Amino acid sequence: MKIAFAGKGGVGKTTLCAWMGDYLARHGQDVLMVDADTALSLGQANGVKHEELPLPLSLREDLVRERIGSGYMHLNPDVSDLPDELSLKLPVDNGSAGRKRLLVMGSVSGAGGGCACAANVLLKSLLAHLIIRESAWVLVDLEAGVEHLGRGTVADVDALVIVSEPSMRSLETAARVGALASELGLARQALVLNRCSGEPDIPAMDGLPRQTMYLPMIPELAARQLTEASVLGLTGRERIDELCAELVRRIQAA
Ligand SMILES: Nc1ncnc2c1ncn2[C@@H]1O[C@H](COP(=O)(O)OP(=O)(O)OP(=O)(O)O)[C@@H](O)[C@H]1O
Ligand SMILES: [Mg+2]
Repeated sequence: MKIAFAGKGGVGKTTLCAWMGDYLARHGQDVLMVDADTALSLGQANGVKHEELPLPLSLREDLVRERIGSGYMHLNPDVSDLPDELSLKLPVDNGSAGRKRLLVMGSVSGAGGGCACAANVLLKSLLAHLIIRESAWVLVDLEAGVEHLGRGTVADVDALVIVSEPSMRSLETAARVGALASELGLARQALVLNRCSGEPDIPAMDGLPRQTMYLPMIPELAARQLTEASVLGLTGRERIDELCAELVRRIQAA
């Protein structure tokens, strides 16, 4: 299954994406996590040190030039070797046969420096390739907001997880993301209300997914933030695993 994680800034998209990837890999699945943000935080959330992260594909001018060209652009570049070539293997604990890889792609909307346009073509081609051809689970951690969703390829994922805090402003963004995704034909959606106390009623808003799950504030994670970027290996992992399992069930059924 191919799942994208969207929502307003800072709501927990990257955290949830990292948890989901880890949960699936520990349960024997082949997982390819795609960092489609500019902040490189998905790697760090997975416990990879900043200096060990590969340069995002959006900044690999060598590859952009090689695959897309610099004058006349190849709009259908061959990218089939790139997932293996560029992804970083991440460890999976508990000896599972699962596999976890990280592909640092960079932002589709802000791709590249001097060759933004060509970089965008390469990123979109790779994303489309992953979504259509890749047999592994593909989890795409999107940048905050809604803009990138209008750009086509992301809308071809199987499901969208929209993360929000229990606040009006965050829910408004969630509703805009949901509405835009629906317009693009992406009907399988779930809302995860993060850092939530209990299961509050949510104000009715057009665009919010009907499926809603609640995730509490996790004090152990909050306490750890100052010293560590990883969100994995928490003592309360079973509860998070249960949430991931339920989320997968719900989006598969949606
Ligand atoms: N349920 C939770 N309990 C405690 N801390 C949390 C929880 N969810 C997320 N966090 C912490 O909140 C911070 C923001 O989370 P995260 O980076 O996942 O958000 P994001 O939506 O990906 O942000 P951005 O828009 O910047 O990409 C992180 O430090 C994360 O560890
Ligand atoms: Mg993030």
